[in-house]
Amino acid sequence: MNPTIELLKSHRSIRKFTEQKIPHELLVELIRAGQGAATSSHVQAYSVIHVTKPENRETLAELAGGQGYVAGASDFLVFCADMKRPTEAAERTGANVVRGMTEQLLVASIDVALMAQNVAIAAESEGLGICYIGGIRNNPAAVSDLLRLPKHVYPVFGMCLGHPAQDPDIKPRLPVEAVLKEDTYCDDREQVEAFDATMRAYYQARKGGNKDANWSQNLTPLFDSKLRAHMRDFLIERGFEMK
Ligand SMILES: Cc1cc2nc3c(=O)[nH]c(=O)nc-3n(C[C@H](O)[C@H](O)[C@H](O)COP(=O)(O)O)c2cc1C
Repeated sequence: MNPTIELLKSHRSIRKFTEQKIPHELLVELIRAGQGAATSSHVQAYSVIHVTKPENRETLAELAGGQGYVAGASDFLVFCADMKRPTEAAERTGANVVRGMTEQLLVASIDVALMAQNVAIAAESEGLGICYIGGIRNNPAAVSDLLRLPKHVYPVFGMCLGHPAQDPDIKPRLPVEAVLKEDTYCDDREQVEAFDATMRAYYQARKGGNKDANWSQNLTPLFDSKLRAHMRDFLIERGFEMK
């Protein structure tokens, strides 16, 4: 067994935490591990806000749609795409910086996601639990105001970290044949149908048979409405114009 691969395959989001605190030195070490991630052209287009004030944690929990674990976890980090630092650094060398390109939005969003996932794995390797919180994009402007994010910085997601107070099952993933395609794209409806059966069985076992849904059905609310339709205007207002 390769322990790294075992760790990666044993991930579960944790939404209940004990009172035990993460030592600050460990938190800093997790961020350093995050910084070890590959980064587009070495641009490191991210900043992480460690939210320590209890009142701000409570506010963020509400802004994220009433997710109590945002306030209850040992630590809460807000991962931001940051195009301010690299563009200003280039500007100081005399570059005639062009801002607001769609590519810059992609670079910063990808960079911060790779960095965050390194933090997540590092945390899990220390026996900690994590939960990403995309819910902060329900109210991205209020989150940005609270954290005093400048222009060209936007909050992509949060992350709860702490000592797990629950032991949830590992959530199944799609069959690898659906995801790994040889040479060219191919249809995967058959694998999706198999996965729907897997997920129905998973929910019935986990919820004592209460939840009668499958993966495809769970996707409906994501795609039958304009979820977080405010994001486009918000990003443009923050200087990610998508030119
Ligand atoms: C970018 C991102 C945002 C997420 N946002 C939330 C969230 O706001 N609240 C939550 O409880 N879980 C959130 N999750 C966790 C997912 O629901 C979870 O990863 C998914 O259901 C798979 O379950 P697992 O992590 O236990 O394997 C998020 C995950 C990602 C990657």
